[in-house]
Amino acid sequence: MEEINYIDIFEIKKNLKGSFIGKNLYYEEKVDSTNTLARDLASKNAKSGSAVIADCQEKGRGRNGKIWTSPCGRNIYMSIILKPKFNPETAQGMTIIAAVSAADAIAEVASLEPQIKWPNDILIGNKKVSGILTEMGTQNMTIDYIVVGIGMNVNILEEDMDAGIKDIATSLLIESKKTNGSERFLDRNKLIASILNKFDKYYEMFLSTGLSSVLGYYQKYFGMMGKTIEINIKDRRVAGQVVGIDSKGALLLKTGENELETIVFGEVYL
Ligand code: BTN
Repeated sequence: MEEINYIDIFEIKKNLKGSFIGKNLYYEEKVDSTNTLARDLASKNAKSGSAVIADCQEKGRGRNGKIWTSPCGRNIYMSIILKPKFNPETAQGMTIIAAVSAADAIAEVASLEPQIKWPNDILIGNKKVSGILTEMGTQNMTIDYIVVGIGMNVNILEEDMDAGIKDIATSLLIESKKTNGSERFLDRNKLIASILNKFDKYYEMFLSTGLSSVLGYYQKYFGMMGKTIEINIKDRRVAGQVVGIDSKGALLLKTGENELETIVFGEVYL
């Protein structure tokens, strides 16, 4: 049916606008996990701002020890290496930056309307289209490197998805067919360049004015405000109403008349 869209590093580079993120690109057709390779490269001498891209992953990793299904030729698997000088606590900001960058790229290149489910799932119409796995290497309480892994379902079709995820996952192509009847493959090279360009913009903003400026853009896609949710925090489950995001990117949940919980990590159930 549709034409194949190959990943082409020259095509990606042609569309890069930033001066830092994506300046060095590593491409492998098949890897275990771009996050694992990026961590390995980061602990050697890879420069901050480099990105590792693969056409498929044999051991793609999701959050909470889950597998990230990563077939060849269809989707985006990319990990950005950062070696910032700030305190490890601010690393959560990188996940926020990645989420808003991925959402911007989807809106720009695919003309779809993504929403962000805190902290880092990108949804279209309640189904997940992209996820982020941020990992960190530290030495003596300082950051050695941060690796921000972004997975995006781009051209995968419903019939090719694993049975276990069909009900909860979607792809940009599936959603484009629904909204504008388009059968054409989306250009992974343009999407990758767009994610890197946005990341460059928001990372620069984060360094110069802090996370709160980036959160202004995040809010645009934040679909959870006012909703009643349940959230798993380690071994307890908390229910409440979402009332906002704080300046460090934590979720603010109203759990009682006068009770507010600030949640830094957790798995949300809408
Ligand atoms: C999640 O939502 O659970 C996070 C998924 C993250 C998947 C990406 S794909 C690129 C990078 N390499 C990995 O092994 N995982 C991340």
